[in-house]
Amino acid sequence: MNTLDPTHPLAAGRTASSRLVRAYQGERQAVTPVWFMRQAGRSLPEYRELRVGTRMLDACLDPALASEITLQPVRRHGVDAGIFFSDIVIPLRLAGVDVDIVPGKGPVLGSPVRTAEDVDRLTAVDPASLDAEVFAPIAEAVRITIAELGDTPLIGFAGAPFTLAAYLVEGGPSKDHIRARTLMHADPAAWAKLMAWTADITGAFLRAQVLAGASAAQLFDSWAGSLSLQDYTEHVAPASTRALSHVRDLTYDVPAADGAEDAQTRNVPIVHFGVGTGELLKAMHEVGADVVGVDYRIPLDEASRRLGHVVPIQGNIDPAVLDAPWEVLEAHVVDVLERGVDAPSHVLNLGHGVPPETDPAVLTRLVEFVHSR
Ligand code: CP3
Repeated sequence: MNTLDPTHPLAAGRTASSRLVRAYQGERQAVTPVWFMRQAGRSLPEYRELRVGTRMLDACLDPALASEITLQPVRRHGVDAGIFFSDIVIPLRLAGVDVDIVPGKGPVLGSPVRTAEDVDRLTAVDPASLDAEVFAPIAEAVRITIAELGDTPLIGFAGAPFTLAAYLVEGGPSKDHIRARTLMHADPAAWAKLMAWTADITGAFLRAQVLAGASAAQLFDSWAGSLSLQDYTEHVAPASTRALSHVRDLTYDVPAADGAEDAQTRNVPIVHFGVGTGELLKAMHEVGADVVGVDYRIPLDEASRRLGHVVPIQGNIDPAVLDAPWEVLEAHVVDVLERGVDAPSHVLNLGHGVPPETDPAVLTRLVEFVHSR
């Protein structure tokens, strides 16, 4: 049964047969779809120009600006998807948390959440109060964007509860997220409460993007690589499942293929990505993802083996190689594509975000190369 609006790009048939969505659904594509994490942003001169005088989070909450920034890399590079321009801390900001993004540093909190009392204060805001009205600038930006994108899918995204909690507890960027991991063990009840609240806030943000027209959803657990498998499974995975439950029920129908009887119901594909998460790949799939994003530290065939050879994968060009001579980059990309054959399907991406210094012409050339193979 269709639970998306009939005008949604997936339900209306605009993006359901795109290379990206089909690869996310497990169908290998003759041409491997490609997009880049952080494709919007500082590597593009047109982005730097537009952002002059506007703070990062204000840019995210300005629908026309957020939409234009989302579209810039799609126009320039011809990638197979747009990723919505926003930030993982936006739902925190919308929930009234004092958070800002300091240029060159990252998210910084006015007051860190360190104790059970801090957790009680934070979670006093009912996640249900983040309603359609609160997310209106997000939904509006998505609507403007998908109208321009036509049959190119837009990917919505959100931060996973652990990565958000790492910022909340530390108060800013940190290396090993040690205070967050201490709270997890020192006060498991407060930790669980913090994680459940964060899951509902970030899940609502993701749902708002999909309902407004995103054709896939990516959960970023960027910092989960600092966790042991046991801590991940016990103290983090349940909250990630809870976050994804906010979009898991969203489905669309595809017409019956030739010869088949009935239309098929599919869920909006969900991608789950983390950095340094080679040991967690299977657990990250099991929280309720359809596709697993792999960073550059392990080869895709090994990642696929760890996933039982049955899970679509996304990744994993080493961003460091973008600035190497073209022949070196080309050989690396071919190697990634060949290793990706081990999985049922593959979406080419970087193993983490585009570095700000990257020459955008290299990204354009890379897309042309992949599309012409
Ligand atoms: O193109 C895209 O990928 C879409 C936009 C996007 C942004 N942030 C825009 C942004 C996405 C998907 C994110 C997610 C995000 N934000 C993550 C998860 C992905 C990852 O990289 O692991 C994390 C951990 C954050 C938190 C965050 N926000 C950091 C670490 C930073 C960088 C700080 C800096 O200045 O180096 C930000 C700011 C940010 N988010 C920028 C952009 C384009 C740079 C801000 C600027 O241009 O001034």
